Amino acid sequence: MGLILGYAEIILAIVCFLFMWSFRNMNSQMPWNWPLLGMLPSLFLHVHRFHERCADVLEWSGGTFLLRGPWFSNMDILGTVDPANVHFIMSANFANFPKGPEFKKIFEVLGDGIFNTDLDLWTNQRKQARALLNHERFRKFLIKTSWEKVEKGLIPVLEHVAKQGFVVDLQDLFQRFTFDTTCILVTGYDPGCVSIEFPDVPFSKAMDEAEEAIFMRHCLPESVWKLQKWLCIGHEHKLTKAWGVLDDVIGKYVSMKRKELSQSRKSDGDEEGLDLLTSYINEDEGMGLDCDDKFLRDTILNFMIAGRDTTSSALTWFLWLVSTHPEVEKKIREELNSILQPKEGEKWKLFKVEELKNLVYLHSALCESLRLYPPVPFQHKAPVQPVILPSGHYVNPKMKVMFSLYAMGRMGFIWGKDSKEFKPERWITDRGTIKYEPSYKFLAFNAGPRTCLGKEVAFTQLKSVASAIIHNYQIQVVEGHPVTPNVSVILYMKHGLKVKVTKRWT
Ligand code: HEM
Repeated sequence: MGLILGYAEIILAIVCFLFMWSFRNMNSQMPWNWPLLGMLPSLFLHVHRFHERCADVLEWSGGTFLLRGPWFSNMDILGTVDPANVHFIMSANFANFPKGPEFKKIFEVLGDGIFNTDLDLWTNQRKQARALLNHERFRKFLIKTSWEKVEKGLIPVLEHVAKQGFVVDLQDLFQRFTFDTTCILVTGYDPGCVSIEFPDVPFSKAMDEAEEAIFMRHCLPESVWKLQKWLCIGHEHKLTKAWGVLDDVIGKYVSMKRKELSQSRKSDGDEEGLDLLTSYINEDEGMGLDCDDKFLRDTILNFMIAGRDTTSSALTWFLWLVSTHPEVEKKIREELNSILQPKEGEKWKLFKVEELKNLVYLHSALCESLRLYPPVPFQHKAPVQPVILPSGHYVNPKMKVMFSLYAMGRMGFIWGKDSKEFKPERWITDRGTIKYEPSYKFLAFNAGPRTCLGKEVAFTQLKSVASAIIHNYQIQVVEGHPVTPNVSVILYMKHGLKVKVTKRWT
């Protein structure tokens, strides 16, 4: 009896303690630090609006906030948007902040691809990827591929939906577009997803599901998601299935390419194009990389994510912002009109990449959209050695430092009082040129030695698609369509972007 009373007292004491603790926190909008559980309950309470919550908490806390994880997990995360911290971690102290084993565990589906590796394995891949992306033949291939996909893929679909008066999900259409172009650039094969039939694309679906599962791994203690994986339930179950689809499709591309290359060396000498897979298989020995099937699988998947997801996310948010800001739309149209030849007049036209290169306002509007809606909305790193950040916060190897790129673009202390407004003008100097913003402030393409290698590729595609649509069509978002960010490692719209399309020229 005494023993039971003893237990009852202990339980009562714990309940009182939790009650007082929550009462103490009651007035605070900041995450509650629960005994044992840390701030995990608060994280889950707001997980459906993760990015906005990050922005709120980081704004209230002055730029840096320590999120306490449960006592049994190494889940303490220092969230920061302080540009001085970003510069310190991404550039000045790069060697002390590798991606590390934790990152690799969370992103394990990416294997040993460029996003997931450090040291020599990363250096060699980066060197090889940069050489390819800067190669003259690859650039020509990129321009040709983007042009053809706009002309023969995107436009026929837009013409069809405009003629029929259908509602179309632009996000889905852009994912199809960038999936096709990236697949052509990476493997040399066109999966043909941009078409009026809107065919099912299991590979794309698998990528989305894998990304959502990766996001959940960020929010759960490792032991929990590992248990889910073992039990084959929830997001982990979806990830396992998605993983199979990704392996299967990529495996087919690799074996097709090997067969094709062994039958003839045509693709190598073909002036038409230089895809990544052909280049890697042909230059296998010269690269210092072991291009076995596993390496090629990892490389293809990493590039598919790099190319498809980021660019289609950027296009979706950009077109939504432009169609809901008529004054910006008008200025983009005026700028496009200004480069029309006199004989062309104001009528149907697809612009060439070279024509779009020097358009200051279009470029500024794209940067402004990437500032507010960065396709990679957050990133994290962990130090090898304990260190004090420029903001005065201490971090050790058991902690993660997380940058919220989404929050960074919304901070008044970084971008001024109008930080939350869509204002392309902030990117234009008094002399009418593009204003340079350092990457540790505008982090959309990352900063330091791991800066995005595909920035030019991305701008080429963004400008080709944006100019084709804005010049030739009127986009109207369906009334009442909810536009909110999803919860994943890529910033998409949770419900897609449902629009009606009208032709501007008959
Ligand atoms: C709007 C479009 C894009 C955005 C916003 C973007 C953003 C980023 C970001 C934030 C990273 C760092 C990721 C990390 O370290 O975890 C990154 C890395 C990378 N990006 Fe992009 N990217 C875009 C398009 C592309 C395209 C089209 C390609 C290739 C064709 C590409 C290739 C890469 C590669 C290879 C890396 C890895 C760099 C490294 O770790 O050394 N990106 N990108």
